[in-house]
Amino acid sequence: MATVVPVSSFDFVVFGGTGDLAVRKLLPALYLRDRDKQITPDSRILLVSRSKESVDAIAKRARAHVPDDLFDEAVWRSFLARTQHFALDAAHDEGWSSFERALADRPEPVRVFYLATAPDLFGPICTRLRTHNLVTPNSRIVLEKPIGHDLASARAVNEAVGAVFDEAQIFRIDHYLGKETVQNLLALRFANSLFESLWNRGSIDHVQITVAESIGVGTRAGYYDGSGALRDMVQNHLLQLLCLVAMEPPTQMHQDTVRDEKLKVLRALKPITPDMLAGWSVRGQYRAGAIDGVGVPGYVEDLGGAASRTETFVALRAEVETWRWGGVPFYLRTGKRLAERTSEIVIQFRPVPHNIFAADAGAILPNRLVIRLQPNEGIELQLMSKDPGPGGMRIKPTNLNLSFAEAFKTRYADAYERLLMDVVRGNSTLFMRRDEVEAAWTWIEPILEGWARDDAPPKPYPAGTWGPAASIALVEREGRTWDDEGSD
Ligand code: BG6
Repeated sequence: MATVVPVSSFDFVVFGGTGDLAVRKLLPALYLRDRDKQITPDSRILLVSRSKESVDAIAKRARAHVPDDLFDEAVWRSFLARTQHFALDAAHDEGWSSFERALADRPEPVRVFYLATAPDLFGPICTRLRTHNLVTPNSRIVLEKPIGHDLASARAVNEAVGAVFDEAQIFRIDHYLGKETVQNLLALRFANSLFESLWNRGSIDHVQITVAESIGVGTRAGYYDGSGALRDMVQNHLLQLLCLVAMEPPTQMHQDTVRDEKLKVLRALKPITPDMLAGWSVRGQYRAGAIDGVGVPGYVEDLGGAASRTETFVALRAEVETWRWGGVPFYLRTGKRLAERTSEIVIQFRPVPHNIFAADAGAILPNRLVIRLQPNEGIELQLMSKDPGPGGMRIKPTNLNLSFAEAFKTRYADAYERLLMDVVRGNSTLFMRRDEVEAAWTWIEPILEGWARDDAPPKPYPAGTWGPAASIALVEREGRTWDDEGSD
């Protein structure tokens, strides 16, 4: 087990401190880091929200999101003793004085302001932090997505926050970058020499990135209907995964070098113009169906019956216009209420140039490297092998299978645990820089505009399937298939 070094003492302020994210993710993550002795005894958690809920009541809700086997009553109590809640309206000046006093008492420690609020409050909160003199040189601000809903609004948010905080103090979170298996992509590519000489258009036929969810929109229908899968998942999570697969090796593992390389990928994405949309994109919306044999309603029912053109599924064909990747398709796909929850990256290599085996030996399938991000985290290399036994030469697909659960026998920390401590440490390698967010919106925007002009609604798909048939056609018309068996 690695040695755990406590990070320096800090005050961790969460705006939106009684909201879903704080209760489900942030408080459990901070508690778990406290349990792992990473948090100094004098560090504090300051929750800020409009509600008058007590810390005990908030804690009770958060407790439900800490797994029982990781729960330690004594640590939990000492963690809560350092947690306070301030009821104030972040959009108005009233009520700030007691919060201000609590912070003013301790100006030295690292101060984190985590904005788990609606994005239209990001600017006003930053301005108030400044007018109340709460921004110290040791302060950092964390922005939850969505950062804008298009390029112009993302720029406006970045401007408003940038008027108060330096770029080095701004941490734009993409929780996918905090996932162990996503960081392992960096290890796979840059701590092994095996793949690098093959990692290009000469050897790779195409790449697939799938982030499939079996859940529906649940209680987030209001937010989701104004967003859709392209903004909610592709603009951030899927494009970040694409960057890690496609980027050039950075010269060192440093916040600027890594993000410089990711930015180059985003800027090299071939624009999908409206006339290309029909061949390069599919959007869908789930209808009633069944997940694991249990009937589930459709998206419109989840919304309460209102008709909607919001996509809950998207599949895209992307290309990275560089010498390394020229002409290699990157197929991206994500959706709600799909057949199962599975996220994976598939690197499919080129077929053998010539088959020396007899026709009845069996088909030679191209090698695939499957990186399973969640669940069943691991890496699988699909190889062709001789089927043992008499009867001549028969060729069969087989797998080299590395399961991280078996190899490491350790708990996989939630993405937020890693990322929150990185903020305190001031390490922004796994956070999005302003130029990255804006480059991602620059690529996404023409797709949104093209869809807005298109009369056709999203294609329906029954819940519990892999999305609209058109998404299968998107890859099959190019002679390829989605890896829907990958997670088995
Ligand atoms: C969030 C999206 O960013 O990621 C959600 O807003 C989605 O819609 C979630 O469900 C998926 O995250 P994870 O970690 O469960 O794969």
